[in-house]
Amino acid sequence: MKLVFFGAPGAGKGTIAKKFNEEFGIPQISTGDLFRAAIKNKTELGLKVSEIMAKGGLVSDDITIGIVKERIKNDDCKDGYILDGFPRTMIQAENWEKADSVDLAIYFDIKDDEVKKRLGGRRVCPKCGKIYNVFFSKPKVENICDNDNETLIIREDDREEAIANRLVVYHSQTAPLLDYYKKFDKVIAIDATAAPEMVYSQIKKALKF
Ligand code: AP5
Ligand code: MG
Repeated sequence: MKLVFFGAPGAGKGTIAKKFNEEFGIPQISTGDLFRAAIKNKTELGLKVSEIMAKGGLVSDDITIGIVKERIKNDDCKDGYILDGFPRTMIQAENWEKADSVDLAIYFDIKDDEVKKRLGGRRVCPKCGKIYNVFFSKPKVENICDNDNETLIIREDDREEAIANRLVVYHSQTAPLLDYYKKFDKVIAIDATAAPEMVYSQIKKALKF
C-alpha cells in the first residue's frame, strides 16, 4: 500500500510512521530525515538544503521529488511505502500522482497551538531517530535514548522563530493538499490531538490493518 502522511509540522507523522515500520515493516520515507542525513554527512545536497531547513523554509520541488524518486527504487519499497512529509506542495502532489499514484493520504488534523507545544518539547535520538517529548513522552532516563543510551538532541528547526515560519509555510503551501486528495476521494482525516497509541489505532482501523 502506498500512503501519504500529511499535516502540520509536529502533527505526529514521524511518530506514527515509525510505529507502522516497526510493526509491519512498511518503509517510512521521510524527506526531512533524508535531508537531515545529507546535512549530517556534509554531502552536496546537505550543503544546499541546510540553511533553508534551519529557517523552516521548503527545499525546491525539483530536488525533493528527485530524492523521493531515487529512494523508492530501493527493493524495500516494492510492496509500498509511507511518504512522511512528502508531498507538501501542490506541484509535488501533482507530480507524484503522475509518477507513482498513491492509494490513500492520511491527514493529521491538529491546531497550531498544540503544534507549538509539541515542537518546543521534542527531543530526538541522533543515532536511532526515536522521537521523544519532554511533556508527552519522556525517555526513561532524562535526555537519554531508551534504545541506545545516546544523549538526545533538539532539532535546529524546533526553535520558536523557525516553528512560526514552518506553520506559515504549512498553511500556504501544504494545507491545499487536503482538497486536492479529497477530489480523488483519497483522504482519511485523523484527529491527531489524541495520544499516540490512539492515533495509531485510529489509522490502523481506517486502513483495516
Ligand atoms: P520534516 O522533518 O518533515 O518536518 P515537519 O513536517 O516540520 O514535521 P516534523 O517532523 O517536525 O513533525 P512530525 O509530524 O513528524 O511530528 P513528530 O512525530 O516528530 O521536514 C523538515 C524540513 O525539511 C522542512 O521544514 C523543509 O525544510 C524540509 N522538507 C521536508 N520535506 C519537504 C518537502 N516535501 N518539500 C520541501 N521541503 C521539505 O512529533 C512531534 C513531537 O510531538 C514529538 O516530540 C512527539 O514525541 C510528539 N508527539 C507526536 N505525537 C503525539 C501525540 N499524539 N500526542 C502528544 N505528543 C505527540
Ligand atoms: Mg517528522
